Amino acid sequence: MTDRPLRTAGDALRWGSSLLREAGLGDPGREAAILLCSVLECDKAVLYAYPERKLSPGEASLFRRLIHRRCARVPLQYLTRRQEFMSLSFHVDERCFIPRPETELLVEEALKHLGEDGAGKLAVDLGTGCGCIAVSLAYWCPNLRVWACDVSAAALQVALRNCRAHKVQDRVRLVKGDLWAAFAGWDLEERVDVVVANPPYVSEEELASVQPEVRHEPPEALVPPVYATEFYRRIFEGAAVALKDGGLLLVETAPSLIPQLEPILRQQPVWMEVRVLRDLAGAERALAATRECRRCVERPPRCRELGCGRWTATIQTRHR
Ligand SMILES: C[S@@+](CC[C@H](N)C(=O)[O-])C[C@H]1O[C@@H](n2cnc3c(N)ncnc32)[C@H](O)[C@@H]1O
Repeated sequence: MTDRPLRTAGDALRWGSSLLREAGLGDPGREAAILLCSVLECDKAVLYAYPERKLSPGEASLFRRLIHRRCARVPLQYLTRRQEFMSLSFHVDERCFIPRPETELLVEEALKHLGEDGAGKLAVDLGTGCGCIAVSLAYWCPNLRVWACDVSAAALQVALRNCRAHKVQDRVRLVKGDLWAAFAGWDLEERVDVVVANPPYVSEEELASVQPEVRHEPPEALVPPVYATEFYRRIFEGAAVALKDGGLLLVETAPSLIPQLEPILRQQPVWMEVRVLRDLAGAERALAATRECRRCVERPPRCRELGCGRWTATIQTRHR
């Protein structure tokens, strides 16, 4: 279809929807409306109520550009620069991974463990991307401190922007580096209440069959630098050191990796209460494990007799 003049919102919606339909996109009317709303900075109700609203030449040309990029399968979120996560609005762009709804599961589990306030507590987010996990934890747990790392300096710039937007920059520390090495010298041992990670977990073979949109996301956010189970092993090892007794480890993964990862946690005496968490679609999506009491790991019967001072409620229940 040739580019015809777009004088009104109604013209633009019709033109955009038909181009997106021709490009094979599943929900062209909705996507055209979302893009037009982002250009006009209004909500959909206004758009539909006033289709005769005039477009300036600048608005029309920006809308055309967005529609053409969407036809090239650039993710909608990179075009609108927004993604909602845990009821908060996050800035996203090509520098970072787009938060997925299933990751909210990790945040909800972490918040249950941390309690309402999080005073005196510390959470670590490995591979923070746009900061959606770290920022949501700090926002919904108003006295919690969060330390978050990423190998990508570009993603960390987005995370900082989101920290500022949600006014949690004083409690979220962002650092560039490779998993636990990012915190070298930060004296993390036995200080952390919750470790959360949504690491890259797509294999090179799987990448060939993902939606074209996914290939616009940063490669380091999708494919781990080493074999996935090896990457998770590094997360588990560092978490066993950093977590306090009774602290919680939460990792997101692919359902296909659960049968390999769950036994690793179950076989290591430092972990107890290993659970597989399902996402809203019912898929096995994440693993949770509680750090065993260090004295119990070393000398279980004696620890129980003495009444280990560092037992948390979870550990006490388990050993009673
Ligand atoms: C799947 S994305 C998750 C981003 C965000 N936490 C979320 O849930 O939307 C994985 C993130 O891990 C980062 N990453 C990859 N390898 C890493 C490493 N070795 N150390 C730290 N971060 C890493 C990527 O840059 C990316 O931001």
